[in-house]
Amino acid sequence: MSTKEILNKNNIPSHVAIIMDGNGRWAAKHGKARIFGHEQGVESVRAAVEAAGEIGVKYLTLYAFSTENWGRPTEEVNALMGLLIQAIENETEKLNKNNVKLGVIGNIEMLPAVVKGKLMNCINNLKSNTGLNLILALSYSSKWEIINAVKNIAASVKNGEIKTDQINERLFENCLTTRGIPDPELLIRTSGEYRISNFMLWQIAYSEFYFPEKLWPDFTKEDFFEAINNYQKRERRFGKTSEQIEG
Ligand code: FPP
Repeated sequence: MSTKEILNKNNIPSHVAIIMDGNGRWAAKHGKARIFGHEQGVESVRAAVEAAGEIGVKYLTLYAFSTENWGRPTEEVNALMGLLIQAIENETEKLNKNNVKLGVIGNIEMLPAVVKGKLMNCINNLKSNTGLNLILALSYSSKWEIINAVKNIAASVKNGEIKTDQINERLFENCLTTRGIPDPELLIRTSGEYRISNFMLWQIAYSEFYFPEKLWPDFTKEDFFEAINNYQKRERRFGKTSEQIEG
């Protein structure tokens, strides 16, 4: 029996975010070049998208390329950009059939024009879909996003649109690239690493963390359901006491 069958349908997180880690180690383990691990990682992306859609997760955010990843060897960066183009070209039709809408967070101006073009095209083609919102974090870093928000708010104060004492959590959230998207209830990072790596620092303030040992290319649909099962056993207190939550 799949773990999917035992999940509580009334407690499915609306937003799951994943730091897909371990592609390079997976490749090394199999005696192959790092890009081979990224290629296998695309299979796990497919599995996670399917699994999320099947159980009614509304938002799935995948950390596909960080600002810091631009510092990797040119060959690997180029190969990752190529994989993105390939994935967009090969998957758009299936995503559409499955009613998936695509979004992106990050500094997409940094992406090569061809990647940005294909991405915007795909987003446009899927824009009327009403199922899972798949969000790719590309050329994303949380500190970049927060600095941008601060700059926008400072400009609004300077030109008199808002007063300093009007700055609050809601206003700040509306200046982030995740505007309108609920914070992730669950953050998964694969590969046994316990780091956040500049990912959604504001948005994960009260997220539950799940750190499976598996490397990303080994992560299956069943692993995704297991992560949800684990999440459903947590008591989310948001700073309150257990008694208050139960009451
Ligand atoms: C981290 O593993 C993974 C990445 C930096 C890239 C993730 C990209 C994909 C899964 C493929 C393309 C994505 C989409 C959405 C189609 P790592 O290279 O840091 O692994 P390591 O820590 O073992 O070296």
